[in-house]
Amino acid sequence: MFKIRVLIRLCIIYFILFFLISLWYLSKLETNETKSRLIHRLAVIVPYRNRSNELEIFLPHMNSFLNSQSVDHIFMIVNQVDKHRFNRAALINIGFIESRTFVDYIVMHDIDLLPLNHKGLPYIYPKYGPIHLASPEYHPIYHYPSYVGGILIITCKDFERVNGMSPLYWGWGREDDNFYVRIKRTGMKIYRPSNLSTNNTNTFQHIHDNSMHKRDYAKYGKQKEEGRKIYPELGFNTTKYEIINKEMKKTNQGIEYIMLDVKIECDYNLTPWCDHPTNIF
Ligand SMILES: *[C@@H]1O[C@H](CO)[C@@H](O)[C@H](O)[C@H]1NC(C)=O
Ligand SMILES: *[C@@H]1O[C@H](CO)[C@@H](O)[C@H](O)[C@H]1NC(C)=O
Ligand SMILES: *[C@@H]1O[C@H](CO)[C@@H](O)[C@H](O)[C@H]1NC(C)=O
Ligand SMILES: *[C@@H]1O[C@H](CO)[C@@H](O)[C@H](O)[C@H]1NC(C)=O
Repeated sequence: MFKIRVLIRLCIIYFILFFLISLWYLSKLETNETKSRLIHRLAVIVPYRNRSNELEIFLPHMNSFLNSQSVDHIFMIVNQVDKHRFNRAALINIGFIESRTFVDYIVMHDIDLLPLNHKGLPYIYPKYGPIHLASPEYHPIYHYPSYVGGILIITCKDFERVNGMSPLYWGWGREDDNFYVRIKRTGMKIYRPSNLSTNNTNTFQHIHDNSMHKRDYAKYGKQKEEGRKIYPELGFNTTKYEIINKEMKKTNQGIEYIMLDVKIECDYNLTPWCDHPTNIF
């Protein structure tokens, strides 16, 4: 009699233990799964044309900077190979379209602006709204409050929400000011780094060599007036282009990057100023 009671008790304890261990195991499985759902991936989108010397500095610098922050990233260098004037906005739109299936956020990144402050400039997933890292407070050159150029982090969802960038800007400048208005129109807040231990001389390094690469500031016809209009219906969904080549390349140090050679289509009715007689690249 006594022995059977002990046996039954042991059995109950055994089953309770088995049940608890199973529960614990299941909960562990579940947290692993939610964790993998929280992992984000960044596309570093770099508008590019004939800047191989800057690319050789940019890639190793950015790769170690992002690795030190444990940011899962790919490099997407969007190389304009047509004969039109440089179109930074269209190149960013194309980089977004070509990477959105395998990343959930992007950073539009000038090739000549290198972040130096590891702690103060996190390339994190911007879940509350776009993060403008190249803040006018810390940028070596641009200090006007609505500046959003240089380096801007945005989720694919938010980029889609503003319909990307206006593809009407050929030549240098203003496309980022248009983008600022697009963001504001949707009511999104722009976040910026603040209270950094560094200032506008040592938060970023600007490696642009003006004597080697002249900028195309020319304005033709109605270009200036048109540049002030927002055209929200034009954006990444109206950017027309052709991919000439897409290749996974490696630097000498073994850093992988995608080189995307593209030809942007110019609508001469909309923007007759997309060609420049003196061909400044
Ligand atoms: C930044 O510094 C200002 C003034 O020193 C302070 O009022 C503010 O709370 C600080 N912000 C953060 C996010 O630390
Ligand atoms: C910026 O910081 C550096 C290093 O701390 C310092 O030498 C320099 O004077 C500062 N510049 C300005 C304009 O505050
Ligand atoms: C592109 O998106 C904008 C804004 O969502 C929309 O108004 C426009 O009709 C779209 N254009 C095309 C060609 O899909
Ligand atoms: C590319 O840039 C180099 C200077 O780095 C310049 O000498 C060359 O003419 C440029 N090529 C084109 C096609 O503009």
